Amino acid sequence: MALGSSLFATVLLAIAVAASPVRIDKPLVSLPLVRRTNSTGLANLLANDQARARYLKDRTQSKLEGRTGSADATNTATQYVVSVGVGSPATQYSLLFDTGSSNTWVGAAKPYAKTSTSNDTGHRVSVTYGSATISGEEYTDTVTLGDGLTITQQSIGVFDGYGFGGLDGILGVGPVGLTERTLSDSDDTIPTVMDNLFSEGIIDTEVLAVSFAPATSDNDTNGELTFGGTNSSKYTGSINYVPITSTSPANEFWGIDESISYGSSPIMNSTAGIVDTGTTLILIASDAFDAYKNATGGTADESTGLLRISSSQFSSLQTLNFNIGGTTYGLTPNAQIWPRSLNSAIGGSAGDIYLVVNDIGSVSGEGLDFINGYAFLERFYSVFDTTNSQVGFATTSYTNATSN
Ligand SMILES: *[C@@H]1O[C@H](CO)[C@@H](O)[C@H](O)[C@H]1NC(C)=O
Ligand SMILES: *[C@@H]1O[C@H](CO)[C@@H](O)[C@H](O)[C@H]1NC(C)=O
Ligand SMILES: *[C@@H]1O[C@H](CO)[C@@H](O)[C@H](O)[C@H]1NC(C)=O
Ligand SMILES: *[C@@H]1O[C@H](CO)[C@@H](O)[C@H](O)[C@H]1NC(C)=O
Ligand SMILES: *[C@@H]1O[C@H](CO)[C@@H](O)[C@H](O)[C@H]1NC(C)=O
Ligand SMILES: *[C@@H]1O[C@H](CO)[C@@H](O)[C@H](O)[C@H]1NC(C)=O
Ligand SMILES: *[C@@H]1O[C@H](CO)[C@@H](O)[C@H](O)[C@H]1NC(C)=O
Repeated sequence: MALGSSLFATVLLAIAVAASPVRIDKPLVSLPLVRRTNSTGLANLLANDQARARYLKDRTQSKLEGRTGSADATNTATQYVVSVGVGSPATQYSLLFDTGSSNTWVGAAKPYAKTSTSNDTGHRVSVTYGSATISGEEYTDTVTLGDGLTITQQSIGVFDGYGFGGLDGILGVGPVGLTERTLSDSDDTIPTVMDNLFSEGIIDTEVLAVSFAPATSDNDTNGELTFGGTNSSKYTGSINYVPITSTSPANEFWGIDESISYGSSPIMNSTAGIVDTGTTLILIASDAFDAYKNATGGTADESTGLLRISSSQFSSLQTLNFNIGGTTYGLTPNAQIWPRSLNSAIGGSAGDIYLVVNDIGSVSGEGLDFINGYAFLERFYSVFDTTNSQVGFATTSYTNATSN
């Protein structure tokens, strides 16, 4: 008996030992992200970002109200767009890349092309973004990301109508909790593209890494999404991680705690907020924004809604320091200004200087006191790690670039 169980244990041990060396790390797959700027003129940059902030803070309430309207999730002056294949053979769709929502949508500009893998689940799906609600039919289908990643039976929403600023839909890579109650007849969550990549064994760890870079022209292919790991060629130094904040409602998103100083003067004590690729600017609580406005000497510009500073105020601008988990991420003066080559896209004047830090529209202490949008993410590599419930940042070759 004793011999039998020891033999059994030995066999198990042998299997365990034999099993570990055969584990092969799956190759990483990356997709290019194209930055599109709508230079036909979009005077509502700030208003759109603030509307999104209000919605994110108040998501449950908005859902109850069931607001409807035109889809303004894409109504930003800049968007990061990724090409995703759906069906077999796959049709490529240009999708808005969004860490602040978690449903995947197609069919808004280019009609959804059904193939033998397309399966109408018979469910309706509906998601509120900002002041608009998108509704459609829920399908499952094969989704292909780049050359290497093929997900079977990914849930996708197919737009009821057309028109979405020329885009085909959304790739929502926020936490799965944000999909709760988006199906009309069920309270269940819907596994995201990231969840399925992991559960179908296509990636080893549920990690998404994002490399953005400051814009230099209208349409730049200057970003990269990496699934299942990070790309060390895209950042400098090391990645520092912080846990998802425990503060609600920021903890429903990619929420973190941070404090902000302008030079050495504190302007925002440590508080919770989010990292969001659906927001263009950096929005901070009204009290922190007032302190920033005072410190920079900026004045509210009527045509853009942004703070405008003179060239001499720009020369004396201090670094804006974001303290996240004990690491300081410095936003240089150049990183605090809107790209001057794109002033006309937001209704500004070519020769003026506008600041990308603005007011979230409510005072601190409400559980979602800042949003680090593109203006932040174009200067720091970011890592969204579902497996370990953490967010990471690293410096890049663009951190101190003077491209703006
Ligand atoms: C990592 O980034 C480098 C430099 O941009 C690129 O050449 C390479 O293909 C990327 N690797 C992966 C796995 O995406
Ligand atoms: C189609 O969807 C239904 C409902 O979700 C599911 O039961 C069925 O297995 C799916 N069929 C295929 C071929 O994916
Ligand atoms: C650019 O913005 C204008 C005004 O908001 C809008 O009508 C147009 O559809 C947008 N174009 C693209 C390509 O997003
Ligand atoms: C940028 O991309 C949009 C959408 O594809 C297109 O309408 C626009 O003409 C492009 N602009 C430039 C300068 O290529
Ligand atoms: C930070 O908190 C301290 C203590 O409550 C307070 O005195 C100080 O004014 C706060 N600073 C900012 C920038 O809000
Ligand atoms: C801004 O400056 C004014 C005038 O110096 C001062 O009264 C006010 O307290 C300052 N506000 C903040 C938030 O620093
Ligand atoms: C950016 O510049 C600051 C100030 O000169 C310096 O301390 C920091 O190391 C630089 N960061 C990077 C990533 O180059």
